[in-house]
Amino acid sequence: MMKLFELARDYQARAYAPYSHFRVGAAVLADDGNYYGGCNIENAAYPATICAERVAITKAISEGATKIHQIAVVGDSDYTYPCGVCRQFMAEFSDDLTVFILGPTEVLSYRLDELLPFAFTSEDMDEL
Ligand code: THU
Repeated sequence: MMKLFELARDYQARAYAPYSHFRVGAAVLADDGNYYGGCNIENAAYPATICAERVAITKAISEGATKIHQIAVVGDSDYTYPCGVCRQFMAEFSDDLTVFILGPTEVLSYRLDELLPFAFTSEDMDEL
């Protein structure tokens, strides 16, 4: 776990956040055994911004991983929780994901199921 947490904290320093000044770092442990870090990357066209979590996940998937097992998130608020889009993105690439929220005094741990109950998945479309 320490490596995952350290990576998330290291990547927070790489945030490109000149508009919000809100820096976020994330790290994932993927099914290829590797760790991948990400930071938020903003854009002058605001909606083009990508969150740290999706940067870390896209790095993992683009390197050949197919699932993530753990993700850690750290941001400039005391306990920064992933946005709704990132929760949905996590659901696509996980079966039983643990989400760690790194705070100033403790690390909180959740299952993605708790953060995104009744997730929409590809199985919903099997009924077609
Ligand atoms: N942000 C993340 O990177 N992850 C989160 O979990 C929350 C929000 C970023 C997006 C944007 O660059 C900034 O934080 C403010 O919304």
